[in-house]
Amino acid sequence: MKKIVGIWGSCLLLLSGCSAIQNMDVLNPAGSQAEEQYSLIKLSIYIMLIVMVTVVVLFIRFVYKYRARPGFTPEKHQENRNKKLELTWTILPFVLLLILAVPMVKSVFGEEKQDNTGAMKVKVTASKYWWKFEYPGEGIVTSQELHLPKGKRVVIELHSKDVIHSFWVPQLGGKQDLIPGRTNKMALTPEKVGTYQGKCGEFCGAGHSFMRFLVKVDSQRDYQEWVDKMKKENTSTKLSAQESEGQKVFAANCLSCHATSSAVSANQGKEGPNLADFGDRKRVAGFLPNTEKNVLKWLKNPKKVKPGTEMPKAKGLSNEDYAALSAYLKTLKK
Ligand code: CUA
Repeated sequence: MKKIVGIWGSCLLLLSGCSAIQNMDVLNPAGSQAEEQYSLIKLSIYIMLIVMVTVVVLFIRFVYKYRARPGFTPEKHQENRNKKLELTWTILPFVLLLILAVPMVKSVFGEEKQDNTGAMKVKVTASKYWWKFEYPGEGIVTSQELHLPKGKRVVIELHSKDVIHSFWVPQLGGKQDLIPGRTNKMALTPEKVGTYQGKCGEFCGAGHSFMRFLVKVDSQRDYQEWVDKMKKENTSTKLSAQESEGQKVFAANCLSCHATSSAVSANQGKEGPNLADFGDRKRVAGFLPNTEKNVLKWLKNPKKVKPGTEMPKAKGLSNEDYAALSAYLKTLKK
């Protein structure tokens, strides 16, 4: 008994884990592709339920009907062949599979046939363990937080810099691999304003489970506002003494890998995530809340926070340097 309770307990714990990461719910679609997939999930669950209930009811019925009892001779009920029954359980599953297969195949090919003229394009590049988002039409680039307008079809071009990753935003659509040396494509049409969780869906190394990103779906107007802001260079607001100290530390240690300009054409570090709007972002390192404490934790020991990350620890920085760096990063806003 104890064992059973234990097993149920762990199952519940596992299930509650599913909702621990917010906005990753396949059963709560917020885009047309996810909506279509959700209706296919429902269809297959209904079909499976019908089969399961029928089998269980028949099973119970026959167990009762042919139970051992005084005066009951099983030999009398033995039947060698029943053509009608055999045909039924051969044809019925076939019909059920057809009911399932037709809309699924239709959905896959229907999506491929969709007209992409007029669709927006975003180029996604995955690296161990972060995401780069480029908007070729706008000439801007960002990382870790993908901004999309509501109600617009977006063609996402998928690239990888190192190993196979997988682009997955459960509430917006299915998964698609990012494969080195190959360009894959998928389309999303977000239908609800909100922030959604994205995740790498393919085991890619030690930092895989931390390879997350956010998708911010805005109204067309808010999205355009964001684009306009991103197109402008960071206005040189007056930095405090500590912030300008941080800017110097950044220039000496970080700038070779991290750009502070959101222009694709900028001649700055392209190895690491673009930080032009870091101060506006909700997360640091892709998954921690963007607080000073977490920024310091990340800067001081990146490999401990995200195993396998290529971000090195800067050498010879004092606590004051780190504090200044963190203060400067906060000023990178749009
Ligand atoms: Cu990238 Cu898992």
